[in-house]
Amino acid sequence: MTESTVAPATPAAVIVLAAGAGTRMKSKTPKILHPIGGRSMIGHALTAAAGLNPRELVAVVRHQRDLVADHILALAEILGTVPVIADQDEVPGTGRAVQCGLEALTAAAPDAGQAGASGISGTVVVTYGDVPLLTTELLGELVATHESESNAVTVLTALLEDPTGYGRILRDTDGSVAGIVEHKDATDAQRQINEVNSGIYAFEGAVLDTALSQVTTDNAQGEMYLTDVLQIARAAGGRVAAVTTTDQWQVEGANDRVQLQALGAEMNRRTLQRHMRAGTSIQDPSTTWIDSTVTLEPDTTILPNTHLQGTTHLSEDAVVGPDTTLVDTTVGIGATVTRTQASGAVIGDRAAVGPFTYLRPGTVLGEQGKIGAFYETKNAVIGRGSKLSHLGYAGDAEIGEYTNIGCGNITANYDGVNKHRTVIGNHVRTSSNTVFIAPVTVGDGAYTGAGAVVRKDVPAGALALTVAPQRNSEGWVEDRRPGSPAAEAAAEARTRPAQPTD
Ligand code: UD1
Ligand code: CA
Repeated sequence: MTESTVAPATPAAVIVLAAGAGTRMKSKTPKILHPIGGRSMIGHALTAAAGLNPRELVAVVRHQRDLVADHILALAEILGTVPVIADQDEVPGTGRAVQCGLEALTAAAPDAGQAGASGISGTVVVTYGDVPLLTTELLGELVATHESESNAVTVLTALLEDPTGYGRILRDTDGSVAGIVEHKDATDAQRQINEVNSGIYAFEGAVLDTALSQVTTDNAQGEMYLTDVLQIARAAGGRVAAVTTTDQWQVEGANDRVQLQALGAEMNRRTLQRHMRAGTSIQDPSTTWIDSTVTLEPDTTILPNTHLQGTTHLSEDAVVGPDTTLVDTTVGIGATVTRTQASGAVIGDRAAVGPFTYLRPGTVLGEQGKIGAFYETKNAVIGRGSKLSHLGYAGDAEIGEYTNIGCGNITANYDGVNKHRTVIGNHVRTSSNTVFIAPVTVGDGAYTGAGAVVRKDVPAGALALTVAPQRNSEGWVEDRRPGSPAAEAAAEARTRPAQPTD
């Protein structure tokens, strides 16, 4: 399956079913809101659906309705369209869900054509909110076949070794699709059939509309089955056909956390393969997890135990890992990020971060800058070529270009009530253990002495010293700590002949 084989499809509507409870997740969170590969399940389903550029994108909701609807509406920007939320009523079943979806469309656009009860005409695609690996490409193939064959219904099917639980595809002796029988309604002979209904279909809208008005709840589950539409459409003279996918993952739903994990691992495997084929080296795919929302340029390298999440982006020649988690973080050209946890950070071209570094949101590291071992940063904008090499904290700070921050420096940004800024200029040199009591400003080219506690602004070019001159109290230890190991060592040192000094 390649993109070039997919005709551009613009169906009248895609209806994504998401009303079910998903009780097997054993979760307070609605099933379709569970994340997989960096998006909710429903987020994946809607993204695949939106890729078809349907005139209307509909989500049918019921269980935890407000939570689910809010989540779906919040996806509008990513989807490039505002989904229509359709509420399913108390009548159960996939058929009723689709009917409610169509009704919501009529309500949203009362002037729509008059082809059927809801006025919809053209291709209507139905998918599920809990089938996260389904792609726009496969949906596009389904729609292309449906339209080129002028079908009334085209169902996406798969051949499964264990078809237990699924609706089975009934075919005539000539191979044409005669209908679908649900597992619970099937005879023993029908249960031997291993071609299953994925639950994903393309319908001619007017046919769907008319057929749904004839669907009853007269079955083993007392539900309005969407699957009944196939027999009804065929009886009315419509052509019913199937597209059979060999890629079973794409039609697999997640009903519990075991299936969710398996789908997540497969999604990750596919994501990594896509990136490797596009020019990223991934040393150890088994310990590398990349969200489907992450973007990577060619000639990037990812070392073991690396997690890239959200809107993270790696530029050309960046090397990330091992043991690194980047969330919503941008890494510049040729930068290296080693054993680092970062979120909401921007790392400049040829900059170096790590090892053991924690970059919090608002960290911006300039070109060729460095944030080294055991550093934490937050809301810190650090200019080109500046280095924070070891052991410190920079929060609510602005650091100029080519400045060197000594070991163990801290911006004391919090007075217990409010946060304050530290502003440090260009070409500044700060000695070890400088503490900046914010708000405070250090001018260009200034220096600080070791252990300085900088409470007042430092003018450009000044040396700030705040530590009192050193005074040695000779013999203090033997006087005040007699008999201690330190006192004994001191006494012993006194008896030793003096070392020549030159
Ligand atoms: C359905 C199909 C079955 C197919 C299987 C594939 C019917 C009658 N059966 O069975 O042929 O093999 O999917 O997984 O369609 N939903 C609603 N409202 C409802 C009921 C379901 O929105 O009233 C949604 C669910 O949230 C879910 C999807 O529809 O996303 C499928 O529901 P589910 O109960 O899993 O259908 P199955 O009985 O498994
Ligand atoms: Ca199911």
